[in-house]
Amino acid sequence: MTTKSQALLNWVDERFPLTSSIKGHLTEYYAPKNFNFWYFFGSLALMVLVIQIVTGIFLVMHYKPDASLNAAGVPVAFASVEYIMRDVPGGWIIRYLHSTGASAFFIVVYLHMFRGLLYGSYRKPRELIWIFGTLIFLVLMAEAFMGYLLPWGQMSFWGAQVIVNLFSAIPLIGPDLSLVIRGDFVVSDATLNRFFSFHVIAVPLVLIGLVAAHIVALHEVGSNNPDGVEIKKKKDANGIPLDGIPFHPYYTVKDIVGVVAFLFFFSAVVFFAPEAGGYFLEFNNFLPADPLVTPPHIAPVWYFTPFYSILRAVTYPLFGLDAKFWGVVAMGASVVIIAFLPWLDRSPVKSMRYKGVIFKSAVAIFVVCFAILGYLGVLPPTPGRTLVSQICSVLYFAFFLAMPWYSKLDKCKPEPERVTFK
Ligand code: HEM
Repeated sequence: MTTKSQALLNWVDERFPLTSSIKGHLTEYYAPKNFNFWYFFGSLALMVLVIQIVTGIFLVMHYKPDASLNAAGVPVAFASVEYIMRDVPGGWIIRYLHSTGASAFFIVVYLHMFRGLLYGSYRKPRELIWIFGTLIFLVLMAEAFMGYLLPWGQMSFWGAQVIVNLFSAIPLIGPDLSLVIRGDFVVSDATLNRFFSFHVIAVPLVLIGLVAAHIVALHEVGSNNPDGVEIKKKKDANGIPLDGIPFHPYYTVKDIVGVVAFLFFFSAVVFFAPEAGGYFLEFNNFLPADPLVTPPHIAPVWYFTPFYSILRAVTYPLFGLDAKFWGVVAMGASVVIIAFLPWLDRSPVKSMRYKGVIFKSAVAIFVVCFAILGYLGVLPPTPGRTLVSQICSVLYFAFFLAMPWYSKLDKCKPEPERVTFK
């Protein structure tokens, strides 16, 4: 470094913790040396967040949250999206990056959460990282739900209608609550305006704040790893973990591999199958919203369907409250219960590598049930499908609620003293 740039850096450092932050979070942040590909998904989630924010900023320049009809009789909001797709230079790619980005976000976050489950990353001392993560997941669902109303297509409109109506099932406050959410007695221009406001500013701010808290908490306690061994327990004479390597340059460079692989698949979808067969953009949403024509089948986007199936699986009234209310409770509980994982898992080891056959089987059954629930949530219900989703919902909750018992019962292998690394 030249004396001039060193002098400038010193000037900044005396006023702002630049060098110490770079050291603390990058060059002298020691991460376990045995990270595998599962550790790509955190940085990929960050990247998708940036993609969503940047493409979102450009979409807002041309999008109009207005449900009134234009001279051609098409809702202005719907027409503005078509205008972006056809007339705005590069508009189509910005929009497809954003719509595909939403699904990519959930794919990446689901894999990121699954990694946490695999390696027990939610266990002490990382409970807060996990709780922030669960909050991020909840907020991400709200963000995606509100964003989906904006194109003002048939699925936007009727999907919002179905989901907002669910809130009216809550005793006492329900009807008023759904009125506040909609800003009207039906999903209307008022709803579109408030969802727009929440989608572009309020919820992203919360999301960014939570992601910052998530990473601060992670850097306070340090990363877990595929062996679930705490690397801070074995340090050298300088206090550096024996199994740790500086995050920069080792993992900044390694993460580029994940970014390239991700962009390969992401571009393939954006350029060749942006609708992903109706899973990322539903076909019915290419029709403008029409409050007078209910589509024969209303299904949420794929990333909500496991939870939507749990909602539909509840078909019995209880304690004088109707099935819809208990469905909403079950759906809410199925997300909230994830936050309690750190206290439900009583296994002596963290990582799946050393857990026994009982825990491994429980995770396998859980994953299969989650996938079946996701698949059934896309389809119209039949008595047979409802029965299968009821069985899968019970197994979904059993995975969590029975964990304190089966995780203790399990015969685990001894955890190694140091991380394994070839
Ligand atoms: C916007 C969404 C998210 C972003 C940007 C994000 C970002 C990150 C990053 C950059 C890391 C460090 C790198 C890594 O370990 O992969 C991390 C770690 C972690 N995240 Fe997230 N995350 C998000 C959502 C979630 C969710 C939804 C959960 C769980 C409910 C979660 C749980 C965790 C855990 C437990 C760790 C520590 C992993 C370990 O040390 O083994 N994250 N996250």
